[in-house]
Amino acid sequence: MNFTLHHKQLFEEATGHNLEALCNEISALSNSEYQKIIGQDKHIFNNSLNEKGLQVFRALLAETMWIESLKKNNQYENKNTQDFIENGFFVKENFLTPTAFKQLQHLSQGEHRMDLEMVDLYKRTFTFAGKHFDSSSKTINVKTHKHFEGDDQYKLHIDSHRPRIKSWVYLQDTTEEHGPLSYVPKSNQNTVEKLKWLYETSVIAADEAHPLFFHRHISAPRIGSYRLNLCGPQTPELEQLNMAKEKLMCVKMNTLIAADTRGFHRRTPAVPGTLRKSIRFNIFL
Ligand SMILES: [Fe+2]
Repeated sequence: MNFTLHHKQLFEEATGHNLEALCNEISALSNSEYQKIIGQDKHIFNNSLNEKGLQVFRALLAETMWIESLKKNNQYENKNTQDFIENGFFVKENFLTPTAFKQLQHLSQGEHRMDLEMVDLYKRTFTFAGKHFDSSSKTINVKTHKHFEGDDQYKLHIDSHRPRIKSWVYLQDTTEEHGPLSYVPKSNQNTVEKLKWLYETSVIAADEAHPLFFHRHISAPRIGSYRLNLCGPQTPELEQLNMAKEKLMCVKMNTLIAADTRGFHRRTPAVPGTLRKSIRFNIFL
């Protein structure tokens, strides 16, 4: 747990607790409990540790480990990596060659193995995945999304406290009418405001009677992706968090969008029944 003085200050400002004390408590846990804490679970059901700032600890640790591994792989300074770290997303027009794009348009729904040319293209582009690219499954998922009323994904949320790459190549020009992905630029960053929100949301998870519970969570057994103000207008809370306005990803066909889904994002609403076809490829960091 190599935290810097900056991390310590961030942690203490966001949680009001001492980082060292929490680190000591975590060090005394069993190996299986520790592995769970540093793992992919979106939420740890341990109220006592959450009150001491566990979720903020996890967010800072996961980011530190990712950045360290990028530096080790000499991929930290790369322009794509820097864009992704800075904004939380990366966009590249005309991603696939015209021939490859044409072939993909005719693929059936579901998973398909990438050919070597595609693996190479994704690898060169996804410098921000670092060593995780090699260990990820090289399959793309062809999916046509059909919009429906009341979709949970219409609400701004984070997928996880830790960096994650989700990517889409849209198979048609995408306008507002298609209900594209929306992303809050730079909301991937572990600012004091974001970490305070993460802390508060992790603590609220233990208390279904809390007035914000159903704004941030779906239901007590389903504590997963933390949500932003599920019931009310979204913008005021973004302003309180000192964040930018949402950016709608209206792009031309064959544009790659990769997003770090620890930042706030959502699917924007569209008329029920509207179709949006894309190729998806995700990596857990
Ligand atoms: Fe999501």
